[in-house]
Amino acid sequence: MQGRVVVITGATSGIGLETARGIAARGAHTVLVGRGTERTQGIAADLSRSTGNPRVEAVGVDNLALLASWTQVAHELIERFPAIHVLVNNAGAYYARRELTGDGIERTLALNVLAPLALTTLLADRLKSSAPARVVNVSSAAHGGNVVDLEDLQGARNFSGYRAYGRSKLELVLLTRELARRFTGTGVTVNALHPGFIRSGFGQNNGGGTAFMIRLTARIGAKSATKGAETPIRLACDSDLERVTGEYFVDGKVTPGSTASRDPEMAKKLYRACLALIQLPALPEPPDLPPTSAMVPPPVLPVPV
Ligand SMILES: NC(=O)c1ccc[n+]([C@@H]2O[C@H](COP(=O)([O-])OP(=O)(O)OC[C@H]3O[C@@H](n4cnc5c(N)ncnc54)[C@H](OP(=O)(O)O)[C@@H]3O)[C@@H](O)[C@H]2O)c1
Repeated sequence: MQGRVVVITGATSGIGLETARGIAARGAHTVLVGRGTERTQGIAADLSRSTGNPRVEAVGVDNLALLASWTQVAHELIERFPAIHVLVNNAGAYYARRELTGDGIERTLALNVLAPLALTTLLADRLKSSAPARVVNVSSAAHGGNVVDLEDLQGARNFSGYRAYGRSKLELVLLTRELARRFTGTGVTVNALHPGFIRSGFGQNNGGGTAFMIRLTARIGAKSATKGAETPIRLACDSDLERVTGEYFVDGKVTPGSTASRDPEMAKKLYRACLALIQLPALPEPPDLPPTSAMVPPPVLPVPV
């Protein structure tokens, strides 16, 4: 990974921190995006010392659920890094209660879905000019059993935090597939993953009984954050995956994901609906490609007599 610039959001704790550690240990120029500039700089300095990699840097952000933060982070990244080879969209959270951000958007949707979409869109030209490049989206197996409701993307009717989280992770897989399609032919790949059930700070933002229950369950069945970082690190670094795009990975392997996550028409509709919410332009449609071998009709062979 020498000479590669890798940006990781939510790199201050849990899976993101361990992903950053693993990537820094592989020699990449590692950029941690985290809440609080001084705090993130301190964590970057610790990682630099513990991995022996002098090129670990920090980009501070207020709140990745806010439109202003997406533009601030993207502008700062573009200004400071002439090439960006990997963007790991890891920051995410479960919110038990429905609340709107300062932009008037339900916060699960804003942080888990719109932030990865906005950062990928705002950094698209930099990723393309740095190709081969990759976008890695940290989704979850919690996407299973959900469907997208285009009429109620923000859970205004009958909100359930659990359903909002599951839907957000389904939406992230669908957007991964649509972004992969739109990056076709550019040398930029986009993949999503489930990191496993991992002991981390996940859910603790809710406090009270919810935080306690998540801590308790995690104590019984969850794996370490180092283990949770294995699939993100593979997707960011493994040369075998250079051309793999639009896929969903579990335990380091391509996995189909739920039926709802493989609906290309829904992926297109959702992509347009999300971009309308954040008022960013769509990436261009990919050029018409020559038919793949599966689509080429077989040669007509002479009929043996
Ligand atoms: N843990 C699991 O079992 C599990 C399973 C499937 C998927 N995931 C996904 O894995 C990803 C990482 O989660 P984790 O388990 O490592 O949880 P975590 O320990 O809570 O880490 C979440 C990271 O995201 C950051 N973050 C949260 N809200 C933010 C905001 N509004 N603005 C900026 N940064 C914010 C956190 O920053 P702070 O350090 O400032 O809090 C932290 O760095 C998430 O996308 C989660 O949905 C986790």
